[in-house]
Amino acid sequence: MALSAGDEALVRALWRKMGSNVGVYTTEALERIVLAFPSTRIYFAPLDLSPGSMQLRAHGKKVAAALSVALGHLDDLPDALSALSDLHTRQLRVDPTSFQLLGHCLLLTLARHYPGDFSPAMHRALHRFLTHVAWALASPCG
Ligand code: HEM
Repeated sequence: MALSAGDEALVRALWRKMGSNVGVYTTEALERIVLAFPSTRIYFAPLDLSPGSMQLRAHGKKVAAALSVALGHLDDLPDALSALSDLHTRQLRVDPTSFQLLGHCLLLTLARHYPGDFSPAMHRALHRFLTHVAWALASPCG
């Protein structure tokens, strides 16, 4: 489901509000995915997965940066994320459902930290954005 102009405006507004903290929330989402869905731990085997570990935080920042790039390229996501898609599908062989799980964990995290902003419309907008990113990452390119 494509994002409407209204969805896009809501996601952008939340992103502006989060400012440089996006990485804090993506790190929490990573902490949640490996605890709530332990089957995903296998992908992150080389990383120290204890909550708050430096490696998890560093990785959270990378995921945050990629999501910010995605937000700037909603019209050409497969191109903008092609290298990342290649990494996740061909090299890491991440199961497509794991992207949905990470999206779910990030939605929960944002709802917890921004309860006043998390209207049903914001929920829908973020869900569509994260589904769009998941689709681009899970689709092998080339
Ligand atoms: C690496 C983004 C979902 C597993 C990365 C990197 C980025 C990224 C930016 C670093 C690439 C680099 O260093 O060149 C994202 C985004 C996701 C996502 C935006 C979805 C919103 C997932 C999921 C999994 C996963 C669902 C597995 C459950 C990994 C692993 C690495 C990685 C294992 C390599 C970590 C390392 O060894 O440094 N991802 N990712 N990613 N991602 Fe993802």
